[in-house]
Amino acid sequence: MSKISVLFVCLGNICRSPTAHAVFQSMVDSEGLSQQIAVDSAGTGDWHLGHAPDQRTCAVASERGYDMSELRSRLVEAEDFNRFDYIIAMDNENLSNLHAMRPGDYEGQLGLFRDYSQQSEQTEVPDPYYGGDNGFAMVLDLVEEASAGLLAHIRLTSPEMQSL
Ligand code: 4NP
Repeated sequence: MSKISVLFVCLGNICRSPTAHAVFQSMVDSEGLSQQIAVDSAGTGDWHLGHAPDQRTCAVASERGYDMSELRSRLVEAEDFNRFDYIIAMDNENLSNLHAMRPGDYEGQLGLFRDYSQQSEQTEVPDPYYGGDNGFAMVLDLVEEASAGLLAHIRLTSPEMQSL
């Protein structure tokens, strides 16, 4: 059985998408699905290539028990459209950059992370980079909520998951 693969994308790949990567991976692991679902993250901008996630991101994540120490920033690349069933953008700017890269024959799901959330007021995970510390905690809240929705969606829609 091939794995279902999920790529989270933001601008720098040091705040929002690594948070989504760590939170969703933790959910997948705790539900015993790590053999069925593969998780990764990437950015559309190249300022922080090879860097660990932002210290403010790591601080709020570690308060809630998420480990981001292994993650490093990388760019989204054309090959990602061959590798990932889900390519999930944090905001509309990320999404429009991904649409511009999308090959015509991509058959996966390209959309906004918040589309998988039950809470519909806010459609984006906002960029916290130039804001205060409460922005990072809010990113984590939004990411936890949308991650639960995404996992429920994958469980419901993937034939591979029906027996698990
Ligand atoms: P992210 O946040 O897209 O959530 O990783 C940002 C990180 C860095 C920059 C912007 C946003 N930057 O301009 O360097």
